[in-house]
Amino acid sequence: MSLKFISAEQAASIVKNGDNIGFSGFTPAGAPKVVAGAIAAKAVAEHEAGREFKIGIFTGASTGDTLDGVLARANAIKFRTPYQSNKDLRDRINDGSAPYIDLHLSHLPQEIRYGFWGSVDIAVIEAADITEDGEIVLTTGVGIAPTIARLAGKIIVELNAKHPKFIRGLHDLYEPADPPCRREIPVYKPSDRIGTPILKVDPAKIVGIVENNMDDQVKAFTEPDETTRTIGNRVAHFLAGEIKAGRLPASFLPIQSGVGNIANALLGALGENPDIPAFEMYTEVIQDSVIGLMREGNVKFASGCSLTVSPEVLHGIYADWDFFKDKLVLRPQEISNNPEVARRLGLITINTALEADLFGNINSTHVLGTKMMNGIGGSGDFTRNAFLSIYTCPSEAKGGKISAIVPMVSHLDHSEHSVKILVTEQGVADLRGKSPIQKAQTIIENCVHPDYKQLLWDYLKLSKGGNTPHTLSACFNMHQEFAASGDMRNTRW
Ligand code: COA
Repeated sequence: MSLKFISAEQAASIVKNGDNIGFSGFTPAGAPKVVAGAIAAKAVAEHEAGREFKIGIFTGASTGDTLDGVLARANAIKFRTPYQSNKDLRDRINDGSAPYIDLHLSHLPQEIRYGFWGSVDIAVIEAADITEDGEIVLTTGVGIAPTIARLAGKIIVELNAKHPKFIRGLHDLYEPADPPCRREIPVYKPSDRIGTPILKVDPAKIVGIVENNMDDQVKAFTEPDETTRTIGNRVAHFLAGEIKAGRLPASFLPIQSGVGNIANALLGALGENPDIPAFEMYTEVIQDSVIGLMREGNVKFASGCSLTVSPEVLHGIYADWDFFKDKLVLRPQEISNNPEVARRLGLITINTALEADLFGNINSTHVLGTKMMNGIGGSGDFTRNAFLSIYTCPSEAKGGKISAIVPMVSHLDHSEHSVKILVTEQGVADLRGKSPIQKAQTIIENCVHPDYKQLLWDYLKLSKGGNTPHTLSACFNMHQEFAASGDMRNTRW
């Protein structure tokens, strides 16, 4: 087959109302950049002509504005899964016009294979290279690419000139067999390779290749502020203490770290702490700070699903490819986030909460119980299966008007059974081996902001009886107070 180049508009012309489309990548890394814009333009034209036009969207995780943003603004979304972090899409989700299914990221490829989602009509795959016989070198994110490329009826390739062909070998692609034939996933250390470096697709399914020359839309991180730096130092100090106490091996264990500014600051703090040895990562998203730590010798190896780094950092990696090529591997999300592998490797998992409650339950997704922020992402894949699961968050939000710690979370993502350590800038609550009442005492003592301590002690005193004491008529008073007066500090029980 000879490679056929087409425009983004020609690619969009094959998309029909109601199609389910799978996009490659994970976060803006490796997400297609131009075809979604052409689909959005087609949707706008169809709507102006009075015709319905919406598509179902499968991705690895969040994407860039050139995918989620344009399709949300064009009101072109039949459904969206499994994760997002785009402001315009968030608004559509929360006003009910874009149905959103928030899913554990490791589940999506197998759920598509199991037939839970209907057909994948088209896959759009970003590539660094492609051969005439259908060998594709992916770019900075893998996500669900192997599954959608295999199952889709048609494939559109976006060939991105920003990525050199020499990154062939960065990826390790492996799809598990489905039950009852599934075997163990043979990853015994973060650097193990178990699959193929290229995505092999049926060339007859490729309808055309669209060229793009755009960087991943990844923003550089802001410098850590005092709160995030303190949280990072507390986690590093806590883990160093665990090594000293013999509860973590002296050689340490692989780290999974979540996304965002706290995660970035935290990794910096781990790197700077002289009592933490150089470590490996088995994580979902490899961000800027990991690359800095690799250059300094503090991170030895990183396995992830994406290189979600700013364009400057990415081009630095490519410039030093000989240094980085043996230190990085990108896997499909059902392998990077796999519960079996997480449990076997004994991961230290560190993720961020929006809200925690007195008993260690975590809300990662819903602001004040109803409004979707981003989604659960991989946090559940890792938390439930960690050697040691840590949650971090600032003790307050919105200038102190919201306490991040409340009597009962307004939405539950991770239950107290899975969460072992809670860290705010105030301190560390070690929840291991504690009853619900003991957990509440240590959380109030160590993690709650001073503005809210007495309030929460009073709630605990008020709540009598049972293994997990609650006053059901009052447990959401702090949320209700915020809705009424805009400040949880006015709460009365
Ligand atoms: N109630 C209401 N709003 C709250 C809040 C609370 N308890 N806690 C925080 N907020 C607000 C903050 O004020 C901020 O709002 P703003 O943007 O208007 O200032 C926003 O929520 C969160 O701030 P952000 O800077 O986005 O925080 P972050 O980068 O540390 O991200 C999460 C925190 C929880 C949103 C993010 O980590 C996430 O989406 N996690 C779920 C997925 C996940 O863990 N993925 C990684 C797994 S590998």
